[in-house]
Amino acid sequence: MVHEHTQPANLRFAVLTASDRSSSGEREDISGVEIGRICGEAGWELVSHTIVADDKEMLKKEMIRLCDILQVGLVITTGGTGLAPRDFTPDATLEVIEKLVPGMAEAMRLESLKKTPHAMLSRAICGIRGKTLIVNLPGSPKAVRECLEVIIAAIPHAVALLGGGVSDCAR
Ligand code: MTE
Repeated sequence: MVHEHTQPANLRFAVLTASDRSSSGEREDISGVEIGRICGEAGWELVSHTIVADDKEMLKKEMIRLCDILQVGLVITTGGTGLAPRDFTPDATLEVIEKLVPGMAEAMRLESLKKTPHAMLSRAICGIRGKTLIVNLPGSPKAVRECLEVIIAAIPHAVALLGGGVSDCAR
């Protein structure tokens, strides 16, 4: 039997921007706003948008709050996925998730490499904590748009599967 309802009734999501400069007010958080806009246009409900410094422990704490207290279906982070000394987002994510979802990160890098060789410099990962999917995106608004475009169609089904209400896949 194939279930038709692979979309969660109400997909609640959170945006977490990792940036020393945006958290201090030195730089506008254009990428975080862009994620909110794109996912909002998909019909999903933005329930939190936080900007945190590039600090592993602070990022972990915020991810845990979003997953365990707010219990959103989806957390999308932006920034801190590269090789700079203060890029810690994938490392923080790895320490809070229970399972990796490698295919999502692989798909984003594969498509992004068609646009820029610098795509291989993003260490972004995707994974699951409880019933929450956490997705890392790079920090630039361009990268956010390019990466979200690749995964957005699979997100509702991913979140529905995590919620436990879907056991079969229609496609
Ligand atoms: N992916 C896409 N699709 N488009 C981009 O422009 N920029 C890359 C990469 N991924 C980019 C991309 C660059 S220049 C870097 S350094 C890494 O993401 C890491 O970015 P971050 O440190 O801002 O997270």
